[in-house]
Amino acid sequence: MDCLHGYLTCCVRIPAHAHVQLSVIPVEMAILRKVGLIASFAILCTFLTVRGSEDKPCAARDLGIEGRSIVCVCNSTYCDTITRVNPARGTFVVYTSTNAGKRFEKSFGEIKTVSATEALNDPEDLKAIPEPEPVPEWPQNTVLDPPPTTEDDDDDEEEDERSAVGDLLSNVELRVYPSVRYQTIEGFGGSVTDAAALNWRNLSDAAQENFITSYFGSKGLEYNLIRVPIAGCDFSEYPYTYAETPLHDATLSNFSLSSHDFFLKLPMIKRAQRVATDEIKITASTWSPPVWMKTNDRITGFAQLRPQYYQAFADYHLRFIEEYDKVNVKIWAITTTNEPINGIVPFVQFNSLGWFPHQLGRWLADNLGPTIKNSRYNDTLIIAVDDQRYLLPVYLAGMELAAPESIDYMDGIAVHWYGNFFPPQILSAIQRRYPEKILLATEACEGSMPWNSERVVHGSWRRAGTYVKSILEDLNHHVVGWIDWNLALNPHGGPNWVDNFVDAPILVYADNDEFIKQPIFYAMGHFAKFIPRGSRRVRVEQNSLIGIENVVVRKTNGNLVIVLQNRRRRQMNVKINISASRYIEITMEPQSIKTVEVNP
Ligand SMILES: *[C@@H]1O[C@H](CO)[C@@H](O)[C@H](O)[C@H]1NC(C)=O
Ligand SMILES: *[C@@H]1O[C@H](CO)[C@@H](O)[C@H](O)[C@H]1NC(C)=O
Ligand SMILES: *[C@@H]1O[C@H](CO)[C@@H](O)[C@H](O)[C@H]1NC(C)=O
Ligand SMILES: *[C@@H]1O[C@H](CO)[C@@H](O)[C@H](O)[C@H]1NC(C)=O
Ligand SMILES: *[C@@H]1O[C@H](CO)[C@@H](O)[C@H](O)[C@H]1NC(C)=O
Repeated sequence: MDCLHGYLTCCVRIPAHAHVQLSVIPVEMAILRKVGLIASFAILCTFLTVRGSEDKPCAARDLGIEGRSIVCVCNSTYCDTITRVNPARGTFVVYTSTNAGKRFEKSFGEIKTVSATEALNDPEDLKAIPEPEPVPEWPQNTVLDPPPTTEDDDDDEEEDERSAVGDLLSNVELRVYPSVRYQTIEGFGGSVTDAAALNWRNLSDAAQENFITSYFGSKGLEYNLIRVPIAGCDFSEYPYTYAETPLHDATLSNFSLSSHDFFLKLPMIKRAQRVATDEIKITASTWSPPVWMKTNDRITGFAQLRPQYYQAFADYHLRFIEEYDKVNVKIWAITTTNEPINGIVPFVQFNSLGWFPHQLGRWLADNLGPTIKNSRYNDTLIIAVDDQRYLLPVYLAGMELAAPESIDYMDGIAVHWYGNFFPPQILSAIQRRYPEKILLATEACEGSMPWNSERVVHGSWRRAGTYVKSILEDLNHHVVGWIDWNLALNPHGGPNWVDNFVDAPILVYADNDEFIKQPIFYAMGHFAKFIPRGSRRVRVEQNSLIGIENVVVRKTNGNLVIVLQNRRRRQMNVKINISASRYIEITMEPQSIKTVEVNP
């Protein structure tokens, strides 16, 4: 009885949101009565407290702006944490974040089985559902977009939930085919720019530690990918490269890393590596070479590489890999220059180098490819293009035409998110054309578009929703990894030497020695935390009038991880068949993101 009393006490101590958790547990009331209500509750309480109490909740700050969600505040003494739970066999665990203020809230459930009688009465023999052929194609998983919402809108969607139409619009059915597998996941991460590191270094030691563990630690998002600029980019205090003088020295005799590497980027990378739960794979990209290699002798503007420096620029990449290796930071992949279109179009104001497709093909085939693959760093991946979706076909076709060998030297193709108004089917088409190459998403941020009146929007749930939509879309079109842009920025979205300010998942308030986690931080976490490297995406089919944004992967241990997003202002009921006779039921609150891990 003492023991039971203890359970009941712990039940009482569960914070208010526990009611919600309890209500989503699909408890078979008939069974409950047999076993005894109190005993069952006791077990549930143990589950909730023992499993749940490990986490520090979000220290929520309501900005008091209509239409905005909360942000979570961290400082030198406090920061929210999230631990992953291994669901027992036949059960699942759900992590929920909502516009209304939940952040990774845990709940639990059991897999249900279609009863024998039901199965018998069913005119269709459920067990006979054939596994479809692997068709790696859209629209197997198409979702109608909800009506567009602006940042502060407040429309009241008056819908009768009880009507037949309401039912049709609120109930979604998915069928998962765990044996139909697609790409293997590399991971998720963010970028160590000078701006990110400057902001991080502006915090006290203890707050810096909370920052690093929030992203990389076992109680954080467990990021396992990082992108780092080779020398400066726009998110630097000023432009710089590693071989500025002497001019026209093709031997790079004076190549040297900068103080930004030694005091900002490398320390941040090393702190991340120290707490990481898996190897952090680092992708590096050049924005602009030393200006003397360029046709316009400037860091920005319309310019290509001078042909006499094609080899020097390849060597520049190898020298960077060597210098980072000397301080024990291994480079996993390099891209063939950040956004090569920027040195061709007239309106870009920051560090760039233009490549026409045929030039990029020649340089990769004749210089960069052989230089890397004949070096002792021959296992470094070369990821080509590193630009927007719609440019991939143009670049790859031009490269292949000018220098077919360039395709052999390329291990993968990198894509940025600023062209995501073009359809993701482009990615699947690329994957079909180059099935041996990986697709890697290397840059994304909110607030960069000309129509974004505000660069940084505090507490924007809409921006979290856009991130989730974009990651789901990319994963469903064969992308293996997803790297966000700046790990942190200041409250204005900087520093940036050309004032190209944007939003970030973490904003640093140096004066208060605190940082805030935007909803975007949790959007990233719904994938990064729960989809480990080595997981395989599997096939999903929707069988309802309207869909729900989703992706399903299978971990190496056989568990299924399902990420779902409901961007509507209406609750959605989701039934997910994980086999012919077993299913789970999930209630999606309005404007919510859920990650479900199922142990089947
Ligand atoms: C850190 O944040 C916690 C929780 O919000 C707060 O109680 C504490 O006073 C803060 N500490 C400092 C040093 O500001
Ligand atoms: C070599 O580079 C450093 C900066 O890294 C610069 O201060 C120095 O002047 C350069 N040496 C020559 C000979 O250009
Ligand atoms: C890569 O280089 C190592 C030596 O550093 C060599 O043993 C290996 O065969 C090379 N691999 C390829 C694919 O060239
Ligand atoms: C660091 O904090 C100081 C104020 O404490 C501020 O003036 C400076 O701009 C901050 N640095 C960055 C990179 O935001
Ligand atoms: C899911 O299984 C149920 C039986 O439990 C069946 O009626 C339904 O059609 C299945 N849905 C899908 C999408 O396969």
